[in-house]
Amino acid sequence: MGNHPETAGGGLGGRLTPPADNGYPEAMVPLLLLACSGSSLDSGETSLGGDCAEVPVVTYANFGEGFILHHCQGCHASTTQDRYGAPETVTFDTVEQVWQARDRILDRAASEPPTMPPAASTTKDDRTRLRWWLLCAEEGT
Ligand code: HEC
Repeated sequence: MGNHPETAGGGLGGRLTPPADNGYPEAMVPLLLLACSGSSLDSGETSLGGDCAEVPVVTYANFGEGFILHHCQGCHASTTQDRYGAPETVTFDTVEQVWQARDRILDRAASEPPTMPPAASTTKDDRTRLRWWLLCAEEGT
Protein backbone atom coordinates (compact mmCIF):
# COMPACT_ATOMS: atom_id res chain seq x y z
CA MET A 1 0.00 0.00 0.00
CA GLY A 2 1.08 3.57 -0.28
CA ASN A 3 3.75 4.77 -2.53
CA HIS A 4 4.56 2.08 -5.02
CA PRO A 5 5.28 3.72 -8.32
CA GLU A 6 3.18 2.28 -11.11
CA THR A 7 6.21 1.36 -13.10
CA ALA A 8 7.86 -0.84 -10.49
CA GLY A 9 8.58 -3.53 -13.06
CA GLY A 10 11.08 -6.26 -12.40
CA GLY A 11 10.14 -6.59 -8.76
CA LEU A 12 9.03 -9.84 -7.27
CA GLY A 13 6.54 -10.46 -10.04
CA GLY A 14 3.72 -10.82 -7.60
CA ARG A 15 1.22 -8.81 -9.55
CA LEU A 16 -1.93 -10.88 -9.70
CA THR A 17 -4.07 -8.90 -12.04
CA PRO A 18 -2.83 -7.78 -15.41
CA PRO A 19 -2.42 -4.04 -15.64
CA ALA A 20 -4.90 -2.12 -17.69
CA ASP A 21 -3.82 -1.85 -21.27
CA ASN A 22 -4.18 1.88 -21.57
CA GLY A 23 -0.97 3.86 -21.53
CA TYR A 24 1.08 0.94 -20.27
CA PRO A 25 4.60 2.30 -20.03
CA GLU A 26 7.13 0.85 -22.43
CA ALA A 27 9.71 1.08 -19.69
CA MET A 28 8.38 -2.24 -18.44
CA VAL A 29 10.65 -3.99 -20.91
CA PRO A 30 13.72 -1.78 -20.92
CA LEU A 31 16.23 -4.37 -22.13
CA LEU A 32 14.14 -5.48 -25.03
CA LEU A 33 13.44 -1.96 -26.12
CA LEU A 34 17.12 -1.52 -26.82
CA ALA A 35 16.76 -4.05 -29.59
CA CYS A 36 13.26 -3.12 -30.55
CA SER A 37 12.39 0.51 -30.38
CA GLY A 38 8.84 1.55 -30.74
CA SER A 39 6.99 -1.66 -30.01
CA SER A 40 4.07 -1.48 -27.67
CA LEU A 41 4.04 -4.79 -25.94
CA ASP A 42 1.78 -5.69 -23.14
CA SER A 43 3.98 -8.04 -21.23
CA GLY A 44 1.40 -8.60 -18.56
CA GLU A 45 -0.43 -11.45 -20.22
CA THR A 46 0.10 -14.32 -22.60
CA SER A 47 -1.12 -12.35 -25.55
CA LEU A 48 1.39 -10.41 -27.54
CA GLY A 49 -0.55 -7.18 -27.21
CA GLY A 50 0.92 -5.94 -30.42
CA ASP A 51 1.79 -6.87 -33.94
CA CYS A 52 4.22 -9.64 -34.81
CA ALA A 53 5.60 -7.42 -37.57
CA GLU A 54 6.90 -5.07 -34.88
CA VAL A 55 8.83 -7.54 -32.78
CA PRO A 56 12.28 -9.05 -33.31
CA VAL A 57 12.52 -12.40 -35.04
CA VAL A 58 12.79 -14.99 -32.28
CA THR A 59 13.23 -18.66 -33.14
CA TYR A 60 14.34 -21.95 -31.67
CA ALA A 61 17.78 -21.30 -33.13
CA ASN A 62 18.36 -17.86 -31.64
CA PHE A 63 16.47 -18.23 -28.37
CA GLY A 64 14.21 -21.23 -27.86
CA GLU A 65 16.76 -24.00 -27.75
CA GLY A 66 18.78 -22.31 -25.03
CA PHE A 67 15.70 -21.28 -23.12
CA ILE A 68 14.25 -24.81 -23.12
CA LEU A 69 17.61 -26.29 -22.25
CA HIS A 70 18.20 -24.05 -19.27
CA HIS A 71 14.70 -23.74 -17.91
CA CYS A 72 12.82 -26.89 -18.90
CA GLN A 73 15.04 -29.81 -19.80
CA GLY A 74 16.16 -30.41 -16.26
CA CYS A 75 12.78 -32.09 -15.86
CA HIS A 76 11.38 -32.34 -19.40
CA ALA A 77 14.25 -33.98 -21.38
CA SER A 78 13.94 -37.67 -22.21
CA THR A 79 17.46 -38.21 -20.88
CA THR A 80 17.00 -36.49 -17.53
CA GLN A 81 17.66 -38.70 -14.55
CA ASP A 82 15.08 -37.22 -12.24
CA ARG A 83 12.07 -35.56 -13.82
CA TYR A 84 10.74 -34.30 -10.49
CA GLY A 85 7.37 -35.62 -11.49
CA ALA A 86 7.20 -34.06 -14.96
CA PRO A 87 4.98 -36.31 -17.11
CA GLU A 88 6.76 -38.66 -19.53
CA THR A 89 4.44 -37.42 -22.24
CA VAL A 90 5.63 -33.85 -21.79
CA THR A 91 9.15 -34.04 -23.18
CA PHE A 92 10.94 -31.22 -24.95
CA ASP A 93 13.92 -32.82 -26.71
CA THR A 94 13.19 -31.37 -30.11
CA VAL A 95 11.75 -28.26 -31.68
CA GLU A 96 8.85 -30.41 -32.96
CA GLN A 97 7.94 -31.50 -29.45
CA VAL A 98 8.02 -27.91 -28.29
CA TRP A 99 5.67 -26.78 -31.05
CA GLN A 100 3.30 -29.66 -30.35
CA ALA A 101 2.99 -28.38 -26.80
CA ARG A 102 2.96 -24.72 -27.84
CA ASP A 103 -0.33 -23.74 -26.24
CA ARG A 104 0.47 -25.47 -22.96
CA ILE A 105 3.93 -23.90 -22.88
CA LEU A 106 2.49 -20.43 -23.43
CA ASP A 107 -0.06 -21.06 -20.73
CA ARG A 108 2.37 -22.38 -18.15
CA ALA A 109 5.66 -20.63 -18.94
CA ALA A 110 4.73 -17.33 -20.63
CA SER A 111 1.98 -16.29 -18.25
CA GLU A 112 2.40 -13.73 -15.48
CA PRO A 113 3.14 -15.15 -13.05
CA PRO A 114 4.36 -18.32 -14.75
CA THR A 115 3.73 -21.77 -13.27
CA MET A 116 6.58 -23.44 -15.21
CA PRO A 117 9.34 -23.91 -14.36
CA PRO A 118 8.06 -24.54 -10.83
CA ALA A 119 10.92 -22.50 -9.36
CA ALA A 120 9.92 -19.53 -11.53
CA SER A 121 13.51 -18.92 -12.59
CA THR A 122 12.69 -17.10 -15.81
CA THR A 123 12.81 -13.34 -16.13
CA LYS A 124 10.07 -11.18 -17.53
CA ASP A 125 12.23 -10.61 -20.59
CA ASP A 126 12.57 -14.37 -21.07
CA ARG A 127 8.81 -14.68 -21.00
CA THR A 128 8.35 -11.84 -23.46
CA ARG A 129 10.78 -13.50 -25.84
CA LEU A 130 8.98 -16.79 -25.34
CA ARG A 131 5.79 -15.12 -26.51
CA TRP A 132 7.52 -13.47 -29.47
CA TRP A 133 8.83 -16.91 -30.43
CA LEU A 134 5.76 -19.09 -30.04
CA LEU A 135 3.25 -16.48 -31.17
CA CYS A 136 5.16 -14.99 -34.09
CA ALA A 137 7.75 -17.41 -35.48
CA GLU A 138 6.96 -19.69 -38.38
CA GLU A 139 5.57 -22.86 -36.87
CA GLY A 140 8.24 -25.46 -36.27
CA THR A 141 11.13 -23.00 -36.13
C1 HEC B 1 11.78 -28.80 -11.60
C2 HEC B 1 11.16 -29.58 -12.65
C3 HEC B 1 10.47 -28.87 -13.79
C4 HEC B 1 10.98 -27.90 -14.64
C5 HEC B 1 12.35 -27.25 -14.61
C6 HEC B 1 9.94 -27.62 -15.58
N1 HEC B 1 8.85 -28.40 -15.33
FE1 HEC B 1 7.11 -28.51 -16.44
N2 HEC B 1 6.39 -29.95 -15.21
C7 HEC B 1 6.98 -30.38 -14.04
C8 HEC B 1 6.04 -31.19 -13.29
C9 HEC B 1 6.31 -31.82 -11.94
C10 HEC B 1 4.84 -31.26 -14.04
C11 HEC B 1 3.51 -31.95 -13.68
C12 HEC B 1 2.74 -31.12 -12.67
C13 HEC B 1 2.16 -29.85 -13.25
O1 HEC B 1 1.58 -29.87 -14.34
O2 HEC B 1 2.30 -28.81 -12.59
C14 HEC B 1 5.11 -30.48 -15.25
C15 HEC B 1 4.20 -30.32 -16.26
C16 HEC B 1 4.39 -29.52 -17.37
C17 HEC B 1 3.46 -29.42 -18.47
C18 HEC B 1 2.20 -30.27 -18.66
C19 HEC B 1 1.06 -29.80 -17.84
C20 HEC B 1 0.24 -28.77 -18.56
O3 HEC B 1 -0.13 -27.77 -17.92
O4 HEC B 1 -0.04 -28.93 -19.76
C21 HEC B 1 3.97 -28.49 -19.32
C22 HEC B 1 3.38 -28.02 -20.65
C23 HEC B 1 5.21 -28.02 -18.76
N3 HEC B 1 5.44 -28.67 -17.57
C24 HEC B 1 6.02 -27.04 -19.32
C25 HEC B 1 7.25 -26.65 -18.82
C26 HEC B 1 8.09 -25.66 -19.44
C27 HEC B 1 7.76 -24.93 -20.72
C28 HEC B 1 9.21 -25.54 -18.69
C29 HEC B 1 10.35 -24.61 -18.88
C30 HEC B 1 10.01 -23.21 -19.09
C31 HEC B 1 9.08 -26.48 -17.58
N4 HEC B 1 7.87 -27.11 -17.70
C32 HEC B 1 10.04 -26.66 -16.59
C33 HEC B 1 8.28 -30.10 -13.65
C34 HEC B 1 9.12 -29.17 -14.24
